Parts: sequence; C-alpha cells; structure tokens
Amino acid sequence: MFHNIKESIRKRMEYLEELDTKDRIDGTPRMERLRQIPPETGKFVSLLAASAPKGEFLEIGTSAGYSTLWIALACKLNGNKLITFEMLKDKAELARETFTLTNLNNVVELIEGDAREYIPNYENISFCFLDAEKEVYEDCYDLVIPNMVKGGFLVADNAINHYQTLKPMLDKALADERVDALIVPIGKGELVCRKI
Ligand SMILES: C[S@@+](CC[C@H](N)C(=O)[O-])C[C@H]1O[C@@H](n2cnc3c(N)ncnc32)[C@H](O)[C@@H]1O
Repeated sequence: MFHNIKESIRKRMEYLEELDTKDRIDGTPRMERLRQIPPETGKFVSLLAASAPKGEFLEIGTSAGYSTLWIALACKLNGNKLITFEMLKDKAELARETFTLTNLNNVVELIEGDAREYIPNYENISFCFLDAEKEVYEDCYDLVIPNMVKGGFLVADNAINHYQTLKPMLDKALADERVDALIVPIGKGELVCRKI
C-alpha cells in the first residue's frame, strides 16, 4: 500500500504537509489551520482501514483531505468507498481540489455539513476515523458504535495530546463492553476500538 503510491497522491500529500507546517508557524488562526495528522498516523490509520471488514467507511473531519488520502489507499486496495464529512466551506473546497487532483472522486464522497446529522444513515459502518472538534467526539462515538459491524474499527485522533478534554469519552470507550479498546502512543495518540 505504501510502496508505489500514485504520483498525484504523493505530490498532494507533500503539498498539504508543507501547507500544514506553514500554518503552524505563521500565526494562521486555529480554525483556518489544516490541523492534519502526521504521516505516521496516516500509515497507522491506513493499515487498520485495510484490515477492516466489509462495510461503510466514514471519516469525521476532512479538513483538506490529507488523512482521507491515507484511508483512500486502503479503499483502493479492497474496493471500498469512503464517505468523509467536513462542516467548513473553505476546507471542503480544498478537499474537493484534493480529490479531483488525485482522481479519487470515484473512491471518496465528501459531505459538507455536521457529521452528526448524517451518521444515523449508515447502519453497516466497518471503519470510522474521528478527527473533529473535541466537543463532538462523544456524540460521534455514541452514534457510530451502535451502527458498527462486528470487527469494525473506530479510530479517534488526539487521545493523548487532548487527553484531559477527551477523558469522559475515552473513559467511556475503554469501559464499553461493546468494544475492545486501547490508546496507542503514535502521533497525537490514537484511541482504537474494535466492535465485538
Ligand atoms: C483536525 S481537523 C481534521 C484534519 C484531517 N483529519 C487531516 O488529518 O487531514 C478537524 C476538522 O473537522 C471539522 N469538523 C469539526 N467538527 C465537525 C463535525 N461535527 N462534522 C464535520 N466536520 C467537522 C473541522 O471543520 C476541521 O476541518
């Protein structure tokens, strides 16, 4: 999956990595920053997505589509489609540009809006990457887990660098008997839940 990444995808990844680095040092206001996952988290999420059972793949928090590109590598491998949600117009526009430049419009569907309104439409979720505002994590968790197929994965970013803010949701997941869960110290910390 990571060998021979298509040139257009590799180029867009590099472009977005540069933009994200610039954002973090030039004083760009928080809500305008891309706030992307680092590449090692991208690989980790992609590996889990490639191991997910058959079903619907969701991503909550697209930004410019950087993490989407990593998950799309897994989708291309197993023929899955990925539905990704972004509620900010400017970010959604950048993401559309990403999917067009990388020819992924047949793999990725971008939905512009609050993911919480749409998640109940998906009843066979087999993979979900959650990387949105921290205030919505618990709502998203509560909506995704009941609609997840057996063996499906929910991966949530920022489980270590925003541990205190996310603690109620993390504690809930770690004690939830519907899933096996742990926090993996990679990147900003990934909560990984596998539906039992
Ligand atoms: C940390 S960034 C996502 C970064 C992206 N996953 C990546 O690594 O390339 C979070 C994004 O989630 C979006 N977002 C936050 N809450 C959301 C919600 N309820 N529904 C859809 N998008 C949301 C924000 O607008 C922001 O662009």
